[in-house]
Amino acid sequence: MEDKIRRIGVLTSGGDSPGMNAAVRAVVRTAISYGMQCVGIRRGWQGLINSDFVQLDAASVGHIISRGGTILYTARSEDFMTEKGRLRAVSTCKMLGLDGIVAIGGDGTFRGALELSRLGVPVVGIPATIDNDVGCTNYTIGFDTACNTAIDCIDKLRDTMQSHERCSVVEVMGRNAGFLALYVGIAIGATAVLVPERQLDFERDVVERIRSARLAGNTHFMIVVAEGVGSAVEIGKQIHEAIGIEPRVTVLGHIQRGGSPSARDRETATRMGYFAVRAFHEGRGNCIIGTREGEMVELPIEEALAMKKHLQMDRYKVLETVSVSVPKPRADLDG
Ligand code: F6P
Repeated sequence: MEDKIRRIGVLTSGGDSPGMNAAVRAVVRTAISYGMQCVGIRRGWQGLINSDFVQLDAASVGHIISRGGTILYTARSEDFMTEKGRLRAVSTCKMLGLDGIVAIGGDGTFRGALELSRLGVPVVGIPATIDNDVGCTNYTIGFDTACNTAIDCIDKLRDTMQSHERCSVVEVMGRNAGFLALYVGIAIGATAVLVPERQLDFERDVVERIRSARLAGNTHFMIVVAEGVGSAVEIGKQIHEAIGIEPRVTVLGHIQRGGSPSARDRETATRMGYFAVRAFHEGRGNCIIGTREGEMVELPIEEALAMKKHLQMDRYKVLETVSVSVPKPRADLDG
């Protein structure tokens, strides 16, 4: 890596997540504090290929800490997966005089970062995805806000499910991971949560859960399905076939990716942005910033990409224990 970093690029790539703007703001302002210039690369890795950039100064990132989405736009670039595309990206870095790139996104973004670093452009990654599925970090920017958005929607659904004494099947995002579903499920007191990390036994995980809830006196049921498990519509049909009730199905979809970032996401994004630029300033590129027990850590990109993070099954046990109370005798059924 060059001795002195004079100018860096910053980009957001992959699915957007609330807090990305807060990270961009922190990157720009920290860079300026170190005497570096900062160039915004628009539309992720594709923007680096197309030389799609915008000059950023301290004022240009004012008032964005509270905004969802990303002012730099984002994309998933097919071209960057090719050697030809990556070489064009390297040419852009040379043309603009970029000594390093801060890449904000998830695992896909970091695979791109690794390839670019192999071509001689130092990259520091900041994990941001609502899925929280990046192995090298306890936490990814956007997860908390997405959980809160899903909880808010499900609380509203619960009102009408309770009035009509219905069963609701809600599909949440998360790609192949169940973090979002499990956290949301615990927070809303779901009757059942289905996650891809646990082999589905429909009778045990859904039918018996609804039965126990009914026997405990409940008349409405909330089933949270992680998208990685499959379609909530299918789960709804299976519930209908198994016990005769007609669930209402809601797919929360992209609403989970929007909205003003929570305190946790603003604070984490700001600290990660600061630590990313500080790594460059201190001569360390080619790493990912992560959190471990609340502290910021730096890991080499290759090592970071090889790390796996497992869904905490102890949380699943908590959900199962607390959400549905143990069947108790009902006074109105007493002889
Ligand atoms: O990775 C974030 C995420 O929102 C996933 O939860 C979801 O599977 C995917 O992106 C959706 O991608 P797209 O916005 O391209 O439909």
